[in-house]
Amino acid sequence: MSGLFLTLEGPEGAGKSTNRDYLARQLEAAGLTVCLTREPGGTPLAERIRELLLNPSAEPMAVDTELLLVFAARAQHLASVIKPALARGEIVLCDRFTDATYAYQGAGRGLSQERIATLEQFVQGTLRPDITLIFDLPIEIGLARAAARGRLDRFEQEGHAFFEAVRQCYLARARADTARYCVIDAARPLSDVQQHIDTLVPSLLERLRG
Ligand code: TMP
Repeated sequence: MSGLFLTLEGPEGAGKSTNRDYLARQLEAAGLTVCLTREPGGTPLAERIRELLLNPSAEPMAVDTELLLVFAARAQHLASVIKPALARGEIVLCDRFTDATYAYQGAGRGLSQERIATLEQFVQGTLRPDITLIFDLPIEIGLARAAARGRLDRFEQEGHAFFEAVRQCYLARARADTARYCVIDAARPLSDVQQHIDTLVPSLLERLRG
């Protein structure tokens, strides 16, 4: 695999999509081919699984079902989008990946890290993101932004404790591996966040070319 696998994470309302698009534009302006994608989803089949995961339904979803659906979508996404793009030497910019599983299904839903790690190994083998940017902000701000966007999805309907656990999981993972993770303060004005992103671009280029 000769490309670079970059993932973006964060709790709800952290401005991930806006900043993802901004980073993609910066990388493309530097002459890179960017494969912009997201999870759950990123292929027609995986997007159908995303709908199952995000749309509230009358039948409560068992936590194990949720975990398996997340990894089923990921297996499809890896096979049809991520691995081929990396093999072509592209930079894969993925909006959420397995860190979200540790944060939401692990810390949020209470599934053990070991169980998630077992599926991670099964579905991904040794493939892990090269770099993960975490857009961090206090959950009150994020939830207010998410609520302002309109109808809440199945995850956004969760309560304060769930999202606090999600946030703390992301921050703990970042502390445990400072080489891979970069925490960005997403509570600051957008122009400051984008300035921070600008400072990261040269080192991303170096990683890809070096
Ligand atoms: P978003 O991409 O619009 O942020 O929404 C995706 C939602 O799916 C978000 O609430 C987090 C959730 N999710 C998981 O629970 N586990 C996962 O592994 C992934 C990738 C996302």
